[in-house]
Amino acid sequence: MDARTDDLDRLEAEFQAKVDAEQRIEPKDWMPDRYRQTLIRQMSQHAHSEVVGMLPEGNWLTRAPSLKRKAILMAKIQDEGGHGLYLYSATETLGISRDEMFDQLHTGKAKYSTIFNYPTLTWADVGAIGWLVDGAAITNQIALCRCSYGPYARAMIRICKEESFHQRQGYEIMMTMAQGTKEQKEMAQDALNRWWWPTLMMFGPNDSNSANSAQSMKWKIKRQSNDELRQKFIDATVPQAEYLGLKIPDDELKWNEERGAYDFGEIDWDEFKAVVSGNGLCNRERLKARIDAHDGGKWVRDAALAYAAKKAARKAEAA
Ligand code: 3HC
Repeated sequence: MDARTDDLDRLEAEFQAKVDAEQRIEPKDWMPDRYRQTLIRQMSQHAHSEVVGMLPEGNWLTRAPSLKRKAILMAKIQDEGGHGLYLYSATETLGISRDEMFDQLHTGKAKYSTIFNYPTLTWADVGAIGWLVDGAAITNQIALCRCSYGPYARAMIRICKEESFHQRQGYEIMMTMAQGTKEQKEMAQDALNRWWWPTLMMFGPNDSNSANSAQSMKWKIKRQSNDELRQKFIDATVPQAEYLGLKIPDDELKWNEERGAYDFGEIDWDEFKAVVSGNGLCNRERLKARIDAHDGGKWVRDAALAYAAKKAARKAEAA
């Protein structure tokens, strides 16, 4: 074996020993390129999900039933945008530029969570998204607070604090509707029926079909598997639905005393694959909205760059 390969093996062994010893990996630390690429993939897609995730709820900003609800929704949507920017900054520490990440999203090279490709048909959907989607995000993101990569873990700690407000306001909307008129309760049940299964897909494919999980678990990027987190979410959410007096749309959902967990039906993985590959109800609309927003903001970026260049030139002249 030549010296270079020897060196690489030693570096990789030292890196894995740090991860095994629960030491955080920081941007300036040596890391295997595949570790770097895995983080860029997952973190940038997480950031894309946050930013695209603003669109479904944005659809109800002008139709919120009261000024109070509108203010809460506005705050939540602004939080999501901030989460996206936070995660783009954390991803940039790995050596990819924001422009490259935006290009990957806009050309379809990068994914974002399938959940945001479903339409928001009634106000109850805003409740269901907060309660279920943000609830699932919290389940996933609490595990990521222990991720081996420092900037990602720290971003998660900050973001999780805001997610709990998102989940509470959504559950409060569902409670208000479930305890409201017959029509409002039916609207809440309809939203639960449409958002339950797509929310379970947020946790990714079954562990047996997850291409990245084994390695991500070894590198402690992932601390729990897709199926473990999905199960955790279901076990926490079913009692919440029962409290609302709403029925989870799964006839196979049943408490399993032996497992100490809920058994549940099979997810429609064909639907999942269709939405991941761009054939969901809103994929084209969401991507067009992001591309239009990016193109529409070009003048702001150009003006900021021109100002920065002028300022730098003045500074250079004065020096
Ligand atoms: N939507 C789109 N793509 C998905 C997906 C989903 N729901 N679930 C899995 N995939 C993709 C993966 O990205 C991977 O494709 P890739 O290799 O091209 O990236 C492929 O399906 C196989 O899945 P794996 O399980 O092997 O992939 P991962 O190990 O990356 O696990 C994950 C998938 C659990 C989503 C993981 O990437 C993760 O934890 N990401 C961070 C959390 C995140 O992105 N959440 C998205 C929602 S953000 C949100 O809800 C914000 C809230 O404020 C509303």
